[in-house]
Amino acid sequence: MQKMLNWIDDRFPLSALWKSQVSEYYAPKNFNFWYFFGSLALVVLVMQLLTGIFLTMSYKPDAAKAFESVEYIMRDVSGGWFIRYLHSTGASAFFIVVYLHMFRALLYGSYRKPRELLWIVGCFIYLALMAEAFFGYLLPWGQMSYWGAQVIVNLFSAVPLIGDDLGVWIRGDYTISDVTLNRFFAFHVIAVPLVLLLLVAVHLMALHEVGSNNPDGIEIKDKKDPLTGHPLDGIPFHPYYTVKDLVGVVAFLALFSVVVFFWPDGGGYFLEADNFIPANPLQTPEHIAPVWYFTPYYAMLRAVPSFLQSQFWGVLVMGAAVVILFFMPWLDRGPVKSIRYRGAVYKIWLAVFVVCFLVLGYLGTVPVTVWGQFGDMMGAADRATVVARVLTLVYFMFFLLMPWYTARDKTKPVPERVTGK
Ligand code: HEM
Repeated sequence: MQKMLNWIDDRFPLSALWKSQVSEYYAPKNFNFWYFFGSLALVVLVMQLLTGIFLTMSYKPDAAKAFESVEYIMRDVSGGWFIRYLHSTGASAFFIVVYLHMFRALLYGSYRKPRELLWIVGCFIYLALMAEAFFGYLLPWGQMSYWGAQVIVNLFSAVPLIGDDLGVWIRGDYTISDVTLNRFFAFHVIAVPLVLLLLVAVHLMALHEVGSNNPDGIEIKDKKDPLTGHPLDGIPFHPYYTVKDLVGVVAFLALFSVVVFFWPDGGGYFLEADNFIPANPLQTPEHIAPVWYFTPYYAMLRAVPSFLQSQFWGVLVMGAAVVILFFMPWLDRGPVKSIRYRGAVYKIWLAVFVVCFLVLGYLGTVPVTVWGQFGDMMGAADRATVVARVLTLVYFMFFLLMPWYTARDKTKPVPERVTGK
């Protein structure tokens, strides 16, 4: 073995890479629960890629055959149902893991200097993930695949001047059709996954350049052992965190298996009921709603009144809600990073923000009949619309007022060394 390793090392820096990236990569010793979700996101990414490859072997990207090919996978392909459910439930698991991973960054100020680029790359990953999920959802060619895509692509048609042409350009047709299915398939199975993989590689390179933050928000590189040069509060990633992360992976897989085996459609939230009906361009489902991970933004879209008969403003607000995340590193002016040493004001804002995002998510799933007339500003906007409007405002206030309330918030003194809790 050693001989073989030497042979490889003479030709490729395998041992050097292992040392610098894993066995001698020093990570803070106080990682907690919230630090599981980065490695879990990697696990889910690999799972989606593997199950996706097997699904592609039996799936047919053809409007006349797509729905049936998914049924064929579910009923006739050996183990097909399992692969399909791993993939479809995996999509929701991916977003749950990534949302928790992003929330951790808000808890501990992980987006702050020197991790701005790491955060920005993360935001691009989030965008790519949304594109990946959107393209994938059209592929089963069910009612919700078809009408969901119709609604989302139509949003691009709301862009002034070029909107109509833009819609046709995206669909490759005047309506969602076989042409659209083919190109969405190409994006879903190769284009976006390649971008995602590249972004994740850059994300990890940026992480290893600056080093991980931690629940205390202290830079461990500032205090090094004069003899070894290693951070005093750091421990080698391997074996300490490889083993610890493995515990997280086992716990996650146990939970995930329960969902896949006993609740694969997530009560209609992971796989919507209407998507078990083949796409019918002549019949609109009674209630069109995106999958849960998009619904907070969908609620914002519906909350914005349509000035001048245009949905464009709603689309703009929805886009801004995502784009604003990129600016977090410069909006937060707090003198400390971690929530442990912040004052009450940030804590309250963060809690309000989370509740706001969750309630918007819920409102996004509720039918328009509960919402009243779409975009009806002057008429009797019902309670759901009013609540969604207020929450949309609060969502933006969390970000836009951040420079002000973080700078003024009373903070606690940050310890010299990590606390080990
Ligand atoms: C496919 C999706 C993603 C994967 C595989 C991934 C992977 C990772 C891994 C393995 C780590 C180190 C372990 C950890 O700190 O938990 C990490 C850290 C980090 N990620 Fe991600 N990530 C993903 C998406 C995102 C997104 C969407 C964002 C933000 C918008 C983000 C922001 C960060 C930040 C700020 C850190 C440093 C955290 C700290 O040191 O406290 N990541 N990521």
